[in-house]
Formats: sequence, structure tokens, C-alpha cells
Amino acid sequence: MFDKIIELIKQEYSGDQSVNLHQPHFGGNEKKYLLDTIDSGFVSSVGEYVNLFEDLLAKKLNVKHAIATVNGTAALHVSYLVAGVEPGDEVITQAMTFVATANSIKYCGAEPIFLDICRESLSLCPLKLESFLKNNTYTGSDGYCYNKVSQRRIKACVPMHTFGLPGHIDEIVEICAKYNLIVVEDAAESLMSQYKGHYTGTIAKLGVFSFNGNKIITTGGGGAIVTNCDKIAKLAKHLTTTAKINSGYESFHDEIGYNYRLPNLNAALGLAQLEQIDLFVEKKRSLATRYKKLFETMDAYNFVSEMDNTESNYWLNAVICRDFDSRQEFLRSLNQNKILVRPVWKLLNSLEIYKHCQTGDLSNAEDLQNRIVNIPSSVV
Ligand SMILES: Cc1ncc(COP(=O)(O)O)c(C=O)c1O
Repeated sequence: MFDKIIELIKQEYSGDQSVNLHQPHFGGNEKKYLLDTIDSGFVSSVGEYVNLFEDLLAKKLNVKHAIATVNGTAALHVSYLVAGVEPGDEVITQAMTFVATANSIKYCGAEPIFLDICRESLSLCPLKLESFLKNNTYTGSDGYCYNKVSQRRIKACVPMHTFGLPGHIDEIVEICAKYNLIVVEDAAESLMSQYKGHYTGTIAKLGVFSFNGNKIITTGGGGAIVTNCDKIAKLAKHLTTTAKINSGYESFHDEIGYNYRLPNLNAALGLAQLEQIDLFVEKKRSLATRYKKLFETMDAYNFVSEMDNTESNYWLNAVICRDFDSRQEFLRSLNQNKILVRPVWKLLNSLEIYKHCQTGDLSNAEDLQNRIVNIPSSVV
């Protein structure tokens, strides 16, 4: 039953060794740039590679500003702060996402509200979002959106483009505008994915990327905030660089900032990686096409494809199994053949740390959490 899948994966990742879910691919100037930073002595928070990395990232994404950070979680944290999230506020996100999306809400002293995903995009469902806002909120005299149950202000909304597949970001931005919510796109997984010709992360007011070792490009550890708004970019840069003000020979700090700037050493690696991103996307899309063709022949396993009007970077390919048992069979069989396949994250509202949080109707997420499996997706 699984022979054809195992054969295809072994063919793609040639050989008898175990196949990882995702590993980095170093095929460009990585060593050259890394040695260059060591020779220059600028390995830390100051150096030309950070600026070059930020400039190339902004250029590639066709966005005005990119601010590089130590990781994607730090980028999310600062994005929420510049979006104006304050202690006691609430922030809407999806129940099916990596834990960092919600943890960084808590770092701000705010509480997440978990809503459902769409079956087709696996990202935040605009219909469920609109219905939640319509039925559960009111507009306060200050013009902000308030939760009828908790009486707290809802300040922002964070859709996440799951596995690189762009969600319905246009509709989400439009709905949130009606309710005075700032949208932060968690595009950690979707670098260079497109929605109606625009890159994910650049459509809402703020977008966030991760360059962790398992992402489409890596800086070792790293992340970035992107925005077209000058004011937001200035504040984000300030907060990620310890809120430092240079004054003649001296410097001081005018608020509590964070030491979140990406080191030059990591940026050197990132620049070399970013130079290859078009090739990486091409290879990933081509692998996805082969997976799609194979899974078309199987009733119990559906390959997750991009929606119309979108182009996914297919960072991490996914299959929806018919039911829990067929998922278990899939996991067992491939892992026994040294092919690492993994079930999707547990829904965040089911974790002890988030059990107390408000949720909407989660019927899609609850059904899919027992059926989604990620399959090997490294660039080869
Ligand atoms: C959806 C999502 N958000 C945020 C993050 C956090 O990024 P990082 O690991 O770089 O902190 C990740 C990945 O790790 C992620 O997948």
C-alpha cells in the first residue's frame, strides 16, 4: 500500500539512509561569507551582512522595510508590541499553529483567542473569524473592539500561512479593518509564497518570518519583521536593538528594549541562502507536483495543494489521511522504513498552558488534527 510512496521518497532523497522531514541545503556562498565575517571580526550585532541581508530580503519581497531578528519568535513578539498589544489585551489567532504564535502573545501580557482554520488552506478561516467578531464583540467608546465575554480589548489578529500555503489573507485584512484590529501575518513558514501576486507577510500591516534550521532558508537561528510602514519599521528596529539612542560619544536607552538583532555571522549565512531562494522554491514546487501526482492515485491520502490564486513555497508538504487509523498506518509504515513523517501539532487550546483560553467553533481543526501528516520536503 505504501510501497509507491516509499519508493518515490527514497528516489528523491537517494539511498538507504534515513530521510529527514526537512534539512538545510548549502549550495552557494555560505562558507565564503561566514569566513569573511570571521576575518572581519564583525560576528555580532554590528556588521555589513545584517544590512545586506535585510536589503535583499526587502527587495525579494517587494516590501519597504525588513528588520532582521534573532529568531521568528522574537520577531512576533516585537510585531505585537508595535501593533500596540498591551497587557490585558486579547489577540486572535488560529488553534492549529506552532506554539510560538501564541507564546509571543503571552510575552506581551495578552491572551490568545483560538479560532478555526479553513479546510482548503489550513490557515485562519475568514468566515469563522467574521462570525466570531460579529457575535462576540462590541465597539467601545474608544473605537476599539471589545470581547463581550471577557470585556477585554481585542487588539490584533495573527493568521498563519500553514506549511507555506497562503491563507485567505485579503479577506482577513478586510474583516479586521472593520473591527479595528491590526493584522500581523505569521509568515514564518511561507517565505516567497504568493497570494494574488503579492508575497505573504507583506499584505497585512506587519509580517514575520523565521529562518530557523528547518525553514526554506536558514540563518542558523533567525527571523525578520517586514512592513511598508516607515513608522512601524523605525519602532521595530528601535525595540529590537535595545532601544538605544546614540548621542555623540555616548549612548542611552529611552525605553525597555530587547537584544533581538540578528548577529552578523547568522546574517552572512542567511545572505548566501537568500541568494538561492528562487531555486529552492522552484525545486520545492517541482517536488510538490510529483507528490501530488502520486497521491492522486490513492483514495485514503490526499495531498494538500495550494488554493486558486496562490502560489505556495511548499515548505513542508502535507497529506490529509482519511481517518485516524489510516494516519497511524501511514506514520508507522514510513517511519519503519526510516522515512521521518510526523503528525501535525496538537491544537494549542488542548495544551495545559492554553486550556483556559477562549475558542470559537473549531470543527475543522479538531477533525484535521488527527489526520494531517507532514512528509519529507527538503530541497535536493
Ligand atoms: C508558524 C511559526 N511561527 C513562529 C515560528 C517561530 O520561529 P523561530 O523558531 O525562528 O523562533 C515558527 C517556527 O519555528 C513557526 O513555524
